[in-house]
Amino acid sequence: MGGGKRLRPLLVYASALLCGVPVERVDAIAAAIELVHAYSLVHDDLPALDNDDLRRGRPTTHVAFDVATAILVGDALQAHAYRVLATDATLGSDAARRQLVLDLAAASGAAGMAGGQAMDMEAAGSRADLAQLEHICRLKTGRLLEAALLMPSRLAEGLLPQQLVALQQCGERFGLAFQLADDLLDIEAPARLSGKPQGSDHRNQKPTMASLLGREAAHRRLAALQEAALASLAAWGGEAEFLRWLCRTQLRVPGAGPVSDGLP
Ligand code: IPE
Ligand code: IPE
Ligand code: MG
Ligand code: MG
Ligand code: MG
Repeated sequence: MGGGKRLRPLLVYASALLCGVPVERVDAIAAAIELVHAYSLVHDDLPALDNDDLRRGRPTTHVAFDVATAILVGDALQAHAYRVLATDATLGSDAARRQLVLDLAAASGAAGMAGGQAMDMEAAGSRADLAQLEHICRLKTGRLLEAALLMPSRLAEGLLPQQLVALQQCGERFGLAFQLADDLLDIEAPARLSGKPQGSDHRNQKPTMASLLGREAAHRRLAALQEAALASLAAWGGEAEFLRWLCRTQLRVPGAGPVSDGLP
């Protein structure tokens, strides 16, 4: 309950609106993804990873408690995510539920968030090129954001294959743009705005898309990726308006603070 933007749940509800799925049917998806995200943050801040002492404006879990507690909290949050998916009564058929469990596992495991985090750690102190950095960001951050758009579509009826492809493409572009904005946040935003230590990437010698491109080019690329994410939604009408609003408001720096301004 420690704050955060709750961006992934918002993407889940935006996707449900777009896919014509009643929003009350995707609560478990929204909760499960946010639980995995919260676990990833607790572990990301550990001394063996980014060694950060501030998260969402408060001491990180290993600072407030200890390292053992932070490791176990992460483990427990992850287990709880799958429990929520397994037990929620509104998710429909067992086949749909099985698919959702597989989607979340794929997004968060070795070929998703956890694998991307491993590559991110390995890249510290190295001279990764832009293609390598984009690949790392797609995995460590993108896959979970993409899952937030994809998973509600599993409950939809009558979605066309090309609509699924467009949604997937929007997710990929959104994910890359979001991590680029986060890299810029690390460079540009003081802790009182972002709720996390400024300059953590530099201190950890993490090569990032923003440090490689330079601030000016990074902002241009961010704007281009935001436009590209919006372009993926061109075939949709008013049902995509909430997702468009998230693209417009969340793919910029600073990305911190509550999501509420100008909500349609
Ligand atoms: C931070 O995610 C970690 C990244 C994947 C970039 P968020 O910026 O969504 O963090 P919270 O949930 O708002 O704290
Ligand atoms: C982490 O990226 C992405 C995760 C999977 C947690 P960062 O290490 O840049 O995230 P922040 O800046 O600590 O939130
Ligand atoms: Mg990290
Ligand atoms: Mg970090
Ligand atoms: Mg960061």
